[in-house]
Amino acid sequence: DLPSGHTVEAWTFNGQVPGPQLVVREGDLVEVELVNRDIGPGVTVHWHGVDVPNAEDGVAGLTQNAVMPGETHTYRFVVNETGSHWYHSHQLSSVQVAKGLFGAFIILPEEAGETFGPAADITVFSHDWETADGMRTVLHGSGDGRDRIIPPGAEVRLRLVNSASHTKIFSLHGTPFRVSAIDGWDINEPEPVSGMRLKIGGGGRYDVTFTMPDHPVALALDGRKPGTVIVFGKDGREAADIRPGGPILDPLEYGAYAPAPIGPDAAFDRTFLMVLDQIYLGHYNGKTNTLWAINGEVFPRTPTFVVSEGDVVKTRIVNRTFSDHPMHLHGHHVVVLSRNGKPYRGSPLVLDTLLVEPGETWEVALIADNPGIWMDHCHILDHAAWGMSMHLAYANVTTPYMAGDVTGNHPE
Ligand code: C2O
Ligand code: CU
Repeated sequence: DLPSGHTVEAWTFNGQVPGPQLVVREGDLVEVELVNRDIGPGVTVHWHGVDVPNAEDGVAGLTQNAVMPGETHTYRFVVNETGSHWYHSHQLSSVQVAKGLFGAFIILPEEAGETFGPAADITVFSHDWETADGMRTVLHGSGDGRDRIIPPGAEVRLRLVNSASHTKIFSLHGTPFRVSAIDGWDINEPEPVSGMRLKIGGGGRYDVTFTMPDHPVALALDGRKPGTVIVFGKDGREAADIRPGGPILDPLEYGAYAPAPIGPDAAFDRTFLMVLDQIYLGHYNGKTNTLWAINGEVFPRTPTFVVSEGDVVKTRIVNRTFSDHPMHLHGHHVVVLSRNGKPYRGSPLVLDTLLVEPGETWEVALIADNPGIWMDHCHILDHAAWGMSMHLAYANVTTPYMAGDVTGNHPE
């Protein structure tokens, strides 16, 4: 049952949506057993934003076979980073994520004590559900609503995750706040802001922190409807004062400037160009549809960017369409160098999901330090399913797995 009053057919991990929130600590060896009870086409788990070894990446047809009903698969990896991430199926993802096969994966810093007690550390997913009345957007807070009761003075961390394909605009009312992390990477000296709105592309995460005031605080999505506001207060029953939204926070101008882990003058071993286009009508897998292309081609004809371990790589991404494309690279984080030719002026940004808006050009850099074959795709999952997907591959790495109808593996 959705807060909007609709009932939908959901596919679930452990019978719940979002799936169980997995909280681990930096340095932990994590083991997760996936049991497919009855997801007919098979299922996987991909750890979005976590730089796991390639074999644990959970992509059907690339790093494993889809796990069929009655089968199990065990994932095992050490987490060497922190932050707010999430997991989701990467078999027929455009269908399976939409139907609910996702959850939060939170990595606490090694030194974290009890600072983030459950009362003040809350994950909120924005998700789009297909209902009898069309698409409905819902905010899903962790903890059954109990964690909406927060005493004044408490330190609060809201981990906002956009599990929907389409870009969402969040706002927080009733308190100044800081954006403490984006895609799990800590922002350098985030300054408090008031009334600014936060634009999060599909797959992206923002951590917002504030001190609970003595009046209610509301988290809302633009285009407010039932189910898209969560009120935090001392007894969980108050109404909040929601003001019209202010300007959108620009992550390239936020926080204190510091040199990024890779600078614009680094000695790049490889440079790649990724041009995003819309093909208004094309034929794909026997169907006619709008297609989404990278360098003029749809998957599997899109380019494969080939690197060697240790390469310092620069990629320029050009969006020539009228749509956002939240581009997500697996297994790596990319350092933002510039957008539309202008270098970032705030905190360094190290992201896994880049919201590339219409007409924009981004330059990003990475160090090739995680051998494998990695997906790089638009997290508007229908765009990925209609072509906008490619691989970053390390030279001399191959995979024994195959995608396509013959194998039943369909990563998108
Ligand atoms: Cu969140 Cu390739 O996925
Ligand atoms: Cu896209």
